[in-house]
Amino acid sequence: MANDFHPSASPDHFWMPFTANRQFKASPRLLVKAEGLYYTASDGRQILDGTAGLWCCNAGHGRREVSEAVSRQVAQMDFAPTFQMGHPLPFELAEKLSGITPPGLNRVFFTNSGSESVDTALKIALAYQRAIGQGTRTRLIGRELAYHGVGFGGISVGGMPNNRRAFGALLPGVDHLPHTLDLARNAFSRGLPQYGVEKADELERLVTLHGAENIAAVIVEPMSGSAGVILPPVGYLQRLREITAKHGILLIFDEVITGFGRVGKAFAAQRWGVLPDIITCAKGLTNGAVPMGAVFVADHLFEAFMGGPESAIELFHGYTYSGHPVACAAALATQEIYQREGLFEKAIELEDYWQDALSSLRELPHVIDIRCVGLVAGVQFAAHQDGVGKRGYEVFRQAFEKGLLVRASGDIIALSPALIIDRPHIDAIVERFADAIRTSA
Ligand SMILES: Cc1ncc(COP(=O)(O)O)c(C=O)c1O
Repeated sequence: MANDFHPSASPDHFWMPFTANRQFKASPRLLVKAEGLYYTASDGRQILDGTAGLWCCNAGHGRREVSEAVSRQVAQMDFAPTFQMGHPLPFELAEKLSGITPPGLNRVFFTNSGSESVDTALKIALAYQRAIGQGTRTRLIGRELAYHGVGFGGISVGGMPNNRRAFGALLPGVDHLPHTLDLARNAFSRGLPQYGVEKADELERLVTLHGAENIAAVIVEPMSGSAGVILPPVGYLQRLREITAKHGILLIFDEVITGFGRVGKAFAAQRWGVLPDIITCAKGLTNGAVPMGAVFVADHLFEAFMGGPESAIELFHGYTYSGHPVACAAALATQEIYQREGLFEKAIELEDYWQDALSSLRELPHVIDIRCVGLVAGVQFAAHQDGVGKRGYEVFRQAFEKGLLVRASGDIIALSPALIIDRPHIDAIVERFADAIRTSA
């Protein structure tokens, strides 16, 4: 297998992220090319991409408009600072994005990743409360099983135990709402699960415990992706919005996965008709071609920062690459494609077909739940007696052998194909997946 690596490259030096390095390097899976819905593996096999890369290539791979825009831009101007300087592209991109965000979220802060978007959103929330004279509001509330990236802010409000436990005390003043995964009541639900709206009421308990005057913001993924596709129960997001609004607490939706059409509208906020104060995004912003993230902020929050002297920097925060010209060029070209091809509507058009196709897996060995919304699915397996995650990994490995890329999170397999998919591709995904489940049983 070692010759799967380029002969001049040893596998030793790259410390791979979120990977069992020794296991992987003993038996590597390398991708060398991507076009449309397919990767080419280093052994020449075509791999159907069931995960849009890592939830990011929503318009499919190898989009020429994006690569051309990137090469034009890098040749014209590789980099320009945005600290006390500017260049046209982030202004153009921010204006364009404000055309697809929910009403009133028209201010855009650029980052380079989802993790940075989350930390930026948390900092804006804290600084906003201070700016409006509510400086005692310093507590942040996340949720169990949430994934908000890997910055210290993100892992503090995040709720995936393995992502937190090795990293010390984390941010102080953070609480977690209970997660909404409830197999006993909701397994094999069609659409959003019926039961669980009352889990949002836990927020009232935290408000009583700490006092609303001490809580700055609540952050949730409208649909948890990385923890294994956990859907919001009917009415849950609305309830969170009611409670946060009542107590002057900001509501942040982390839409790093759900943004850009994954659940059938530009953002999940629009799909489920709930208006947060801040939205984070990344991934699909540039179709995964260049790292970039963004934070959409309600106008009135932005305005609250604009009260001091005009010569004063309003927010001491930013990244060298905030609004990077090459990333902006990729994002502008990507947004053109989404609009021209109507990709934000694709997930709703295909939702029933997708759900029906996935439901056909229900009787396969060890399947204990199937959760679908938009063009996302989570298929959960009963844990193997030898340990949690073993079965999920085995299904993932078998799927790759059979020419399908899926994403394993413990014993849940997530699917999230590019939005350019059509019915025959859905059939092919489900067929290969079923084959992998049977083989690994
Ligand atoms: C909801 C959510 N937030 C934040 C992140 C972190 O994004 P990144 O890996 O780009 O830092 C992710 C990544 O999957 C995510 O799903």
